[in-house]
Amino acid sequence: MVHFMKILSLLLASSLLGMIQGSPNVIKKKKQQNQTGLKKANFQKVINGKKTNLFFLKNDNGMEVAITNYGGRVVSIMAPDRNGKMADVALGFDRLDGYLNNNEYYFGAVIGRYANRIAKGRFTLDGKTYHLPINDGPNSLHGGNKGFFARIWDARQLDSRNLLLTYDSKDMEEGYPGDLKVQVLYTLTQDNSIRIEYTAVTDKPTVINLTNHTYFNLNGAGSGKITDEKLMINGDSYTPIDDTEIPTGKIDPVKGTPFDFTSPTVIGKRINADNQQIKFAKGYDDNWVLNKDFKGQLSLAARVTDPNSGRVMDVLTTEPGIQFYSGNFLDGVKGKDGKPYKYRTALTLETQHYPDSPNEPDFPSTVLKPNQIFHSITIYKFRTE
Ligand code: GAL
Repeated sequence: MVHFMKILSLLLASSLLGMIQGSPNVIKKKKQQNQTGLKKANFQKVINGKKTNLFFLKNDNGMEVAITNYGGRVVSIMAPDRNGKMADVALGFDRLDGYLNNNEYYFGAVIGRYANRIAKGRFTLDGKTYHLPINDGPNSLHGGNKGFFARIWDARQLDSRNLLLTYDSKDMEEGYPGDLKVQVLYTLTQDNSIRIEYTAVTDKPTVINLTNHTYFNLNGAGSGKITDEKLMINGDSYTPIDDTEIPTGKIDPVKGTPFDFTSPTVIGKRINADNQQIKFAKGYDDNWVLNKDFKGQLSLAARVTDPNSGRVMDVLTTEPGIQFYSGNFLDGVKGKDGKPYKYRTALTLETQHYPDSPNEPDFPSTVLKPNQIFHSITIYKFRTE
């Protein structure tokens, strides 16, 4: 409603302007308008000599995605419901300051160098032990205190549907070895997909695990709980965790547990189950092992369906795992339009290698060597039913 009023008043303002200045202006003004009402000016700053900004991707169906180069963050996703009505389905802030002054650091961000947890912030590579910032209980989470989510990426808008972000992470930044050059290409496709393509190269052996941390609520950001939404995860097993959310090293079948989402299941159905794993994370916050025909296959990982709006989101990835996090730590922080983002009002589906892989020799390797190219693709595809 607030959105509608905002859009209406903008439309009125631009047509009034058109009446004063002549009709061509009306067309021009309308074209420049962004559906979200987000203003570039609110994202333009200079931080440590680097410029931040807001970029818009648009396709021919009217879908619109806003991204800032501060942390490579998805700020908003305007997607249609079953009646064609648009709503913003991604949590975020109206202005850069919202991201800078917030203690939940990861809204919409690119996460690296290592997404998810590394036990005790420590790993050994080629006989040398590396120490990372401890920022989540006894562990290192999401690349440290100033991971990629807090870096200013170089941005190049290639055209209306493609934004290229690049970042050079220096040797030993946040404790990780090697100069790492990272590239993230965001594409809004004509079939309503947000395609994220990650590429990286290093000059020394290192570990890498990249993801995106967009919080989704398919009924609209800040519109209530996600526990009514249905979820399917294409994974027959998962990696159980200890009480600090570090994998035990085992890979267990989901069958007969609250982690079985192999057929679409309402998220709230088992979220409060009397289950030790659920209790450790205060809800869902786990890594599923994705079913694949072969390593690196771009295949369906998860599907979220919102019965209310009819929106459906398919997640496809080349990554071997996915973290489903049910927003258990959201605490009511006020986001876009002043809407509070409360407990379990959004979910993340973070495609990834398994948490703590550098300390688990039996998990798929996250080591990147100088003669290799890191490459992965994740797609969030929107449709309705
Ligand atoms: C998730 C992580 C959660 C929590 C969240 C941010 O990726 O698995 O445990 O840290 O990010 O609050």
